Amino acid sequence: MKGFAMIKRAVGRILGGLCAIVLAGVVVDVAQAGETVGIPPEVVAEYIHAIIQADRTIYSTHVVERLQDLKVTVAAEEWKAKGTVPLPAQMLQMAGQEVRGLGLGLRIRLASLGPIYKKNEPADQFERAGLESVAKDPRKPYTGIITENDKHFFKAIFADRAVSMTCVACHNSHELSTKRDYKLYDVMGGIIISFPVQ
Ligand code: HEC
Repeated sequence: MKGFAMIKRAVGRILGGLCAIVLAGVVVDVAQAGETVGIPPEVVAEYIHAIIQADRTIYSTHVVERLQDLKVTVAAEEWKAKGTVPLPAQMLQMAGQEVRGLGLGLRIRLASLGPIYKKNEPADQFERAGLESVAKDPRKPYTGIITENDKHFFKAIFADRAVSMTCVACHNSHELSTKRDYKLYDVMGGIIISFPVQ
């Protein structure tokens, strides 16, 4: 009985010690986390892009394409006047304006090397190089740090692909289109995301 009590005490001490080590470990980790945890801007941009892309694909396939197939309505540029629904590009542009209004410094835009409207052309050499790069290799975003009025921004350009036949059909037939031979999954331009960095 005496021996059993000793073993119990010893096991208790070992477990207590282990708990202390584990707890100490947690405390140290938390302290380190407080000092050093940070998400690289490349990853932040990937997260933001993942959400935008998911919404864009779902809107185009499950809303625009579906409403059209069911002959309910179409997506049209003058959607308010015509009583239809907004274009996928307009959805992204409106989201970009909403986000800009929050004053976070986060900007989202859609651009292309062969745009329907001039305002959607690359704004500078960085954007042009980025759109050319994602057209060649759509899997890899084009990224860099740019400086505007002494402030630094991380900028990332992701390929914007024709995820639905509605993208292809509308762009190929739009009266102002400069390119009329898009196919499903072609790169049609880029989603440009930028946010301030220190
Ligand atoms: C019903 C027509 C229509 C559909 C569907 C459509 N677009 Fe567009 N898209 C436009 C118009 C019009 C603009 C210009 C809108 C503006 O900037 O006011 C535009 C803009 C763009 C731009 C910016 C460059 C430019 O051409 O001005 C890209 C990139 C783009 N669309 C890709 C796509 C993709 C990808 C899809 C499918 C997910 C898609 N579009 C679906 C008509 C359409």
